[in-house]
Amino acid sequence: MRVLGIETSCDETGIAVYDTEQGLLSHALYSQVKLHADYGGVVPELASRDHVRKTLPLIERALREANTTPSDLHGVAYTAGPGLIGALLVGASIGRSLAFGWNIPAIGVHHMEGHLLAPMLEANKPEFPFIALLVSGGHTQLVQVNQVGDYVLLGESVDDAAGEAFDKTAKLLGLDYPGGPRLAALANSGHEGLYQFPRPMTDKPGLNFSFSGLKTAAANAIHGATEQSSNGLTEQNKADIARAFQDAVVDTLVIKCRRALKQTGIKRLVIAGGVSANTKLRAALAETLAALGGEVFYPRSEFCTDNGAMIAFAGAYRLAAGEQVVDSVKVRPRWPMTELKVPGAA
Ligand code: KG4
Ligand code: ZN
Repeated sequence: MRVLGIETSCDETGIAVYDTEQGLLSHALYSQVKLHADYGGVVPELASRDHVRKTLPLIERALREANTTPSDLHGVAYTAGPGLIGALLVGASIGRSLAFGWNIPAIGVHHMEGHLLAPMLEANKPEFPFIALLVSGGHTQLVQVNQVGDYVLLGESVDDAAGEAFDKTAKLLGLDYPGGPRLAALANSGHEGLYQFPRPMTDKPGLNFSFSGLKTAAANAIHGATEQSSNGLTEQNKADIARAFQDAVVDTLVIKCRRALKQTGIKRLVIAGGVSANTKLRAALAETLAALGGEVFYPRSEFCTDNGAMIAFAGAYRLAAGEQVVDSVKVRPRWPMTELKVPGAA
């Protein structure tokens, strides 16, 4: 089965062609980062308009690179939520219309299920069950994955998502949007332990997260360092604060993952979503799992952040099980992942 995947839930247009026999045949990505940079964050209306401009040309490119014509396709998968409503509607309308015109089935994919299954695009795939740490701009969740569609939410952020905390703290440090990767790069030249930030919610039992306090800790550190020096905040101060912030987030995520693995007795951990591109987080979790005699799985960096390949893959899985969207174009800006069902189950 060969499926076209369309991702337009936020600020990236991602298109891919996935074949259940031959694997990923092509993928194309257009990032809107430059478009939103002047505003310091994603402007939903601008995002929708840019998806309108980019989706069809990228589909043409992905099909060409996959040496695929519409008659070779067996289905179209598009992100149906969660995400920005206007942005979602662009991908859903185009995907549903193309499938209708080509007379093939279409399926609306859950964006986080896409992230969760992205490691399955790699040669070293995890077996079920596994624990997934989903860390993106909008979500921080620990999920027990028993099989595709059987998800038990173990914990989630009660306020900011990890990526959101990275982006907000980066903004406080004067870094351009999207700040997460920039803050991570700056942290590399920071000294360890010069600033001590809390590891929120690790002293009580449970698997929920809270990251908004770390942003406040960073704001206080910035304020303190600026007051102390006559030249204001130096580059080294910024790097030291970035380091303290990243160390606190990574430590907190590691503590909660270890707790989830212990609680469930599972020794396979998947990390997915934009923040899973963070090399310090990957290294720390690899070390943790090695010490536990387990293994950590993650997609290659370009499939950690939003992409069409994960949507084509998740869509192909559900289409192959006989699922499809028959009626109208529906999107769900909010859509709890626990509402998903095992494909093919009644
Ligand atoms: O999954 P994603 O591309 O989009 C959402 O669905 O939200 O995640 C984007 C988030 C942003 O907050 C971005 O700053 C963060 O992932 N991110 C990182 C890194 N790369 C991306 N955060 C920390 N370190 C990174 N290397
Ligand atoms: Zn995402």
